Amino acid sequence: MKILILGAAGQIGRMLTTDLLKQTDNELVLYARNASRRLKDALSDRVSLTDGDFTEYDALVQAMNGIDSIYLNDMNSKEGVQTIVKAMQATGIKRIIVASILGIYDEVPGAFGQWNLRMLGTRGIQLHKDTSSLVETPDLEYTILRLTWLYNSEGNRNYHLTSKGEPFEGAQVTRQAVSQLIVDILNDRTGKFIKASLCVGEPGTNWDKPSFY
Ligand SMILES: NC(=O)c1ccc[n+]([C@@H]2O[C@H](COP(=O)([O-])OP(=O)(O)OC[C@H]3O[C@@H](n4cnc5c(N)ncnc54)[C@H](OP(=O)(O)O)[C@@H]3O)[C@@H](O)[C@H]2O)c1
Repeated sequence: MKILILGAAGQIGRMLTTDLLKQTDNELVLYARNASRRLKDALSDRVSLTDGDFTEYDALVQAMNGIDSIYLNDMNSKEGVQTIVKAMQATGIKRIIVASILGIYDEVPGAFGQWNLRMLGTRGIQLHKDTSSLVETPDLEYTILRLTWLYNSEGNRNYHLTSKGEPFEGAQVTRQAVSQLIVDILNDRTGKFIKASLCVGEPGTNWDKPSFY
């Protein structure tokens, strides 16, 4: 399989690159602003680099050549997500996994829900509602990851998933666990992650806020 990581210079993008190289025989295309400078150490016979912004249609189309699945590491730009979807339509690629945030369906109950809303603001949540709806369409084989609050902890790869329509669980999760989840989704052959919108939290962290706040 050939995987395109959009936003590959970000924290999860870098972890995912390492995990996919270790755990699979996938080929990778790493797409980032100034990828050729920032990610040059990752170049190998299995890894190629493309410089570009999410709003650069031609660079996206070129990077999507021969790609089976895409991971998009940032959903903060409406124009960016629109351009990515347009490039997918042009190249016929259907499979995309995206990193969004919790709260886009008002699915976070109780004190944590109120804290989350205060921290993100209604505008921040609305932006992610809008960008997620651009990929949550019948035409695409999407997996939306509604990530709770992120932190780093080597060796902690525990994640717990809840589906759309279920209340959110987990005030925090590690980036390492999210990276492992993406590898597990890409490896899945049952189809259970296709057209799914999943909340991603860490088991046993149903708190009023993350431990690091
Ligand atoms: N922090 C949290 O607690 C939290 C919670 C839930 C969800 N999230 C989301 O989880 C995602 C992944 O987390 P992370 O820690 O890996 O984030 P990150 O380190 O900020 O990575 C995001 C990457 O996306 C790239 N990017 C953004 N807009 C772009 C554009 N228009 N064109 C090209 N590249 C662009 C950034 O590029 P540059 O490096 O060039 O800026 C960055 O490398 C983030 O998007 C965040 O919104 C975060």
